[in-house]
Amino acid sequence: MFLVLFFVLPFFCAAFDGFFDPASNGGSLLTSVPDTFPPGQHEPVNLIISGDSDSDVLQDTSEGLHNYFLSLSFSGECFGQHQGNRQQADLGDGKGLVNETAVIRYNYGDPTLGTCTESQQGGNHFRYWIQNGSSADSGAVFMAVSYEKSEAEGHDIVVNGYNLGRDYIIGNITGSAIPTLSLTNSSTFSGSTSSSGFTYSSTVTYLSGLLPNTSEGINHNLTVSVDNINAVDGLVALVEVKVTTRPSNGSTSNNDNGNS
Ligand SMILES: *[C@@H]1O[C@H](CO)[C@@H](O)[C@H](O)[C@H]1NC(C)=O
Ligand SMILES: *[C@@H]1O[C@H](CO)[C@@H](O)[C@H](O)[C@H]1NC(C)=O
Ligand SMILES: *[C@@H]1O[C@H](CO)[C@@H](O)[C@H](O)[C@H]1NC(C)=O
Ligand SMILES: *[C@@H]1O[C@H](CO)[C@@H](O)[C@H](O)[C@H]1NC(C)=O
Ligand SMILES: *[C@@H]1O[C@H](CO)[C@@H](O)[C@H](O)[C@H]1NC(C)=O
Ligand SMILES: *[C@@H]1O[C@H](CO)[C@@H](O)[C@H](O)[C@H]1NC(C)=O
Ligand SMILES: *[C@@H]1O[C@H](CO)[C@@H](O)[C@H](O)[C@H]1NC(C)=O
Repeated sequence: MFLVLFFVLPFFCAAFDGFFDPASNGGSLLTSVPDTFPPGQHEPVNLIISGDSDSDVLQDTSEGLHNYFLSLSFSGECFGQHQGNRQQADLGDGKGLVNETAVIRYNYGDPTLGTCTESQQGGNHFRYWIQNGSSADSGAVFMAVSYEKSEAEGHDIVVNGYNLGRDYIIGNITGSAIPTLSLTNSSTFSGSTSSSGFTYSSTVTYLSGLLPNTSEGINHNLTVSVDNINAVDGLVALVEVKVTTRPSNGSTSNNDNGNS
């Protein structure tokens, strides 16, 4: 018994980097999108909030994860109205394909009405899922980020909009533009954001090998991919978040982030 633990435990500890690769257990970082043309297209899950982050951030609550989203100027949907189709992802955690938890939109600095602007005029948005099934319970938050066009233009994705959407969020963390075209799997960044008395310190590492570097089978690939740049560049931004300041009142009650 002791011998087994001695040899097995270090192996698992070393293998855990704040999330489990869905592909190692039948899942995928490519979502299933309903009603695409041609059928069966996917969107990339291109940003992961590490399960090694402070537990405040990993709670799917308004004081927790949604306050971190607010610190990045993202909030729930305009008046809780769901726009667009529901995508599904299998994170390899034993739950199989699961509907997105919610769609979260860039709020243009206005937590209350800004996501209505995003719905109409387009902009950055993401869907998310939590890897919390019993066979890979990392608690990590998996996000499929893309920058979309306006409602009038049918909410298509802008040119290079998956890679750019991911990097705009990282840019919002660091406070300066991320060089999307020169990123590699050794790119790292860090920055600090705050909301409602919480200050978050985020460390970002770009990883390859989790997503394919491809345009094949990617939703809207005809318009998203451009010369020499695949619709999906094959990189995932892994973000580890630590809380460096908590409000002395210990709570943030007034943020209704419409997580429904
Ligand atoms: C998933 O979303 C679809 C709508 O896109 C809905 O019909 C279905 O009931 C949802 N499944 C669950 C388990 O909520
Ligand atoms: C996993 O996270 C989702 C989204 O917050 C939640 O609805 C679900 O209840 C969680 N499942 C478990 C097993 O904790
Ligand atoms: C912050 O996000 C917005 C919306 O996605 C984007 O327009 C802006 O360029 C981002 N800032 C940086 C520095 O990347
Ligand atoms: C980084 O990418 C290079 C090629 O682009 C590859 O050879 C290398 O294995 C990758 N490293 C990691 C840690 O994924
Ligand atoms: C706690 O304080 C922060 C500012 O430090 C404020 O934004 C928040 O609304 C307060 N929460 C409560 C429950 O009073
Ligand atoms: C993705 O593939 C293209 C060639 O198709 C290559 O130029 C680019 O460097 C690759 N991106 C990454 C991040 O490896
Ligand atoms: C888009 O994906 C389809 C597969 O669904 C593929 O046949 C097509 O070549 C791709 N288009 C581009 C521009 O990569």
